[in-house]
Amino acid sequence: MSVSFKPRSIHDLQTFKQRGERFVMLTAYDAISAAILDEAGVPVLLVGDSLGMVVLGHPSTVPVTTDEMVHHTKAVRRGAPAALVVTDMPFGSYQIDPSAAKANAVRLMQEGGASAVKIEGGERVLDLVGDLVGMGIPVMGHLGLTPQSVNQFGGFKVQGRTTEAADRIVSDTRALQDAGAFAVVLECVPAEVGRRATQGVDIPTIGIGAGQDTDAQVLVLPDLLGMTAGPLPRFVKAYVDGRSIMRDAVKAFQAEVASGEYPGSEHRY
Ligand code: KIV
Repeated sequence: MSVSFKPRSIHDLQTFKQRGERFVMLTAYDAISAAILDEAGVPVLLVGDSLGMVVLGHPSTVPVTTDEMVHHTKAVRRGAPAALVVTDMPFGSYQIDPSAAKANAVRLMQEGGASAVKIEGGERVLDLVGDLVGMGIPVMGHLGLTPQSVNQFGGFKVQGRTTEAADRIVSDTRALQDAGAFAVVLECVPAEVGRRATQGVDIPTIGIGAGQDTDAQVLVLPDLLGMTAGPLPRFVKAYVDGRSIMRDAVKAFQAEVASGEYPGSEHRY
């Protein structure tokens, strides 16, 4: 069998860390965005369960199912065949019992085409992380504001503000590394916690609202593109006003159809 492209792998991220090269991860939920992110050289695409909120319109990530994650992972894989695609294990897919968790992770890899899975939590998921890694399934951890626990936290709030909570995030990052995780997302924690957690491990940390010292940064693509409405977390930076761009383009189309300007002679057969 001849392979005409070099697929991205988790080892690329380790190399970035060793070289001190900061990198990005971005969410992708469909084939077209995945293809564009791949063209832009994004080294890791996350099929985040944030899709429940930004694509499916739920108020949190809690309602997202494994079937939905498989469906969107397939699309992302079709759009970016050689990408490193990490897929979130959704709420309820890994907490109930270890066999079901392993079966769900296998589905995301085998049916969806994910290269790796992401799991929220620290100490309570360490055994599962070890088991999955032992099965050949690379695992990315996720600490700090773990959105699947929003009901426990009482909202989307900064985590790790007390000394005890900060120390726990730092030690959990280390414990995830020791359990075999290849990277850890740190979400919505004080910059000092992001720095300490990063310095304590050899694997890359990927921050979102975790300050400037993590090895990488991740954003939700519709946030980066300025598509998301409403009050946004402080860490979000929109690089274009995508919502206005889209609205203006749609209005221009409507106006041209109304005036008869579109379709012009160059658009007709
Ligand atoms: O679901 C998601 O998009 C995520 C990122 C915010 C890290 O977990």
